[in-house]
Amino acid sequence: MNSNTNITDDILVKCENIVTTFPFDKTRRIKAVDGVSLELKKGEIVGLVGESGSGKSVTSMSMLQLIMSPGQVEGDVRINGMEGNMLDYGMFSKEARSVRGGKIGMIFQEPMTSLNHIIKVGEQIKENIKTHLNLDDAAAKKKAIEMMEKVGIANPDIRYNQYPAEFSGGMRQRVMIAMVLAADPEVLIADEATTALDVTTQAQILDLIKNLSVERNVSVIIITHNLRLVARYADRIYVMYGGNIVESADKYTLFDKPVHPYTHGLLAAVPRLTDRKDRRLIPIEGLPPVPAKMPPYCKFYDRCKYRDERCKEGMAQLKEIGEGHFVRCVFSEEELKEKMKQLDGELEKTPEKLISDEVSLEVKDLRMYFPILKGMMKRKVGEVHAVEDVSFTVHRGETIGIVGESGCGKSTLAKCIMRALEPQHGEIKINGTDVPMRVPQRNTSA
Ligand SMILES: Nc1ncnc2c1ncn2[C@@H]1O[C@H](COP(=O)(O)OP(=O)(O)O)[C@@H](O)[C@H]1O
Ligand code: SF4
Ligand SMILES: [Mg+2]
Repeated sequence: MNSNTNITDDILVKCENIVTTFPFDKTRRIKAVDGVSLELKKGEIVGLVGESGSGKSVTSMSMLQLIMSPGQVEGDVRINGMEGNMLDYGMFSKEARSVRGGKIGMIFQEPMTSLNHIIKVGEQIKENIKTHLNLDDAAAKKKAIEMMEKVGIANPDIRYNQYPAEFSGGMRQRVMIAMVLAADPEVLIADEATTALDVTTQAQILDLIKNLSVERNVSVIIITHNLRLVARYADRIYVMYGGNIVESADKYTLFDKPVHPYTHGLLAAVPRLTDRKDRRLIPIEGLPPVPAKMPPYCKFYDRCKYRDERCKEGMAQLKEIGEGHFVRCVFSEEELKEKMKQLDGELEKTPEKLISDEVSLEVKDLRMYFPILKGMMKRKVGEVHAVEDVSFTVHRGETIGIVGESGCGKSTLAKCIMRALEPQHGEIKINGTDVPMRVPQRNTSA
């Protein structure tokens, strides 16, 4: 089942058995990607998910012939409209370059690395348009302004003449999307493209990508460690671990009927709307494997609650256990269910009361205003109300979240609690005692 009605059966990208290695020492190589196969259909949004270091970025770079020597890529990558295997073309070949930035566009976590700091934003988009479309300067400029408007940049005429440093992180990411779209790509790869942004901007950028994908029928690969993001935006999900795909399915199957223990682990660590109020979020214990020390069997072995000696007999293959649902585990779905019932049932039986009635932190009516100073004499002309009468309590054993867009006062609040800033008003008590000042304070009440 797919949420995007534009999805067709035309396959735009099909990768088979990508293996990417890097030298480890003089004689040995590490496998960063170990036999990854994936496909992307026209109009589809696919999520590639896994913890940091699982091989997501190397997979996408391998697909696009972006791995520099001494890295080596093997496998078969077919791109719609391109003759033969993408990996048979050289990194700088005309064919590979026409795929990158043409048929397939990429946006990364930090747009500043792709933007030129000393060239006006609009000029950069215009130049990109001129590279890909046969337009003269005036027409390319007009198109650049249209593109800026399309990706949600307000006042594009004015913004056209500004430099990247004058744009916020979210706006720079919009600029990158405009640049990539200028080449009219069939596929967009967003590699942790919204990771550095606050949640609201993140949602705006991903909504934009999703809308553009529907409007222009662009297929998208969203690469992220954030399962909640792909839950909202992707049609189909590949879960990666230690260079392998360990489970893949359409998103509804993956979220409602996950099978692989790693997918269960990822899901147990994120909150869901349907959760019981007292459900605990359980992180996956241990760390992802280091490529230099990969076992010749299941790479999740050390962290898996359900492992036994059978798991060490060799590497399990990806098995199709339902239509389009693939899992890499030596146990069948039924065997895993049985193991989970036994083990997790025992955990359920011993609910712990983790939150005590004792108050650890009490914040009452906290207020922090910063003066706006002007001129040589530093005359106070106004105030920024960074924190306005905030009160809350945290009990021993309790975790609370303080959430809000950039600039809403979260860090100032934390600094006031630590007394790295002295609030103008309010009380802060830890275990019932006032928190003393930690650093000498400049007089901010000018
Ligand atoms: N150029 C490189 N040389 C050696 N090892 C690399 C190189 N690039 C990535 N790796 C290793 O490959 C593994 C996968 O990395 P990566 O694809 O960046 O993970 P992810 O994107 O999932 O966080 C990591 O262990 C990383 O250290
Ligand atoms: S093969 Fe064994 S260790 Fe690996 S995920 Fe399955 S149960 Fe866990
Ligand atoms: Mg990455």
